[in-house]
Amino acid sequence: MARREIEGMRSVVTGASSGIGRAIAVELVRQGARCVLLARSEDRLTKVVEECNALQGAGQVEIVAGDVTDAAVRKLAIEKSVVTYGGLDAVINNAGVGSFGRFSDSSPDRLRRIMEVNFFAAAELIRESLPALLRGTNPIVVNVGSILGHRGIPRMHEYCTSKFAMQGFSQSLRIELRAEGVDLLMVSPGTTDTEFYDNVVHGRGNVPWNKGRGTPVAVVAKKTVRAMQLGKREIVPNLNGRLLLWANRHAPHWVDRVLERFA
Ligand SMILES: NC(=O)c1ccc[n+]([C@@H]2O[C@H](COP(=O)([O-])OP(=O)(O)OC[C@H]3O[C@@H](n4cnc5c(N)ncnc54)[C@H](OP(=O)(O)O)[C@@H]3O)[C@@H](O)[C@H]2O)c1
Repeated sequence: MARREIEGMRSVVTGASSGIGRAIAVELVRQGARCVLLARSEDRLTKVVEECNALQGAGQVEIVAGDVTDAAVRKLAIEKSVVTYGGLDAVINNAGVGSFGRFSDSSPDRLRRIMEVNFFAAAELIRESLPALLRGTNPIVVNVGSILGHRGIPRMHEYCTSKFAMQGFSQSLRIELRAEGVDLLMVSPGTTDTEFYDNVVHGRGNVPWNKGRGTPVAVVAKKTVRAMQLGKREIVPNLNGRLLLWANRHAPHWVDRVLERFA
């Protein structure tokens, strides 16, 4: 995995209208990268552009407003980078949604929707970006998974499934891409202070855990961009996530018991 300069890097960031994606985009632009920001909410993307433009000596930003599950929208984002910036060096697959509720009360549609956004759209964006990435400078794919791609928890089966899929896919793809000169960084955040649990597609009012007690989003973004610079293969940027992984490695039965009260 190669070290790389952020300054001048040409990138597409999905889910850049809020939370982790927004913070990664702002950090990249602050360090001089050129970013195409993709998300559905044009209003919020415009605000991110204003924030980026206010940074001194920063890079450039363009927006593509649309659903990441739409192949035409993904194509537009890749083309925007290639046409406006002259190429593509980084794809940051960050767009994601959750759902909260028991499997026995859930629907096939919900499982498919979460998989479409969190996994299939990301996998297809990589497939569609590869021709441009292979011509890029020190190219890299960044997949934002989750600590819940390492440890499943109750009432979030759709989400955990999508993030485990992303984890396995990334491990497999990393080795293939390395031979072609493209790095793959897997980012597995723990609980981060964003609007994620307000935006779940189901069960919003029932989420029992902490709002406002996660890691600040800027910490996760800075660690992600630093890991891109250093050419790391995987990071768990939050202390809460590293603790969960440690506990699960050493005492998985105990973690099961603790999680039972949320079932
Ligand atoms: N917050 C956490 O505790 C946490 C922990 C681990 C992993 N993560 C992961 O971090 C990533 C970002 O989540 P977040 O916490 O920053 O949540 P967030 O604030 O809700 O941000 C989600 C982003 O994804 C975009 N998005 C959602 N569905 C989309 C779609 N169909 N097409 C295009 N964009 C879409 C949203 O924009 P629009 O609504 O404008 O489309 C938004 O920009 C996700 O992959 C999530 O799974 C979060």
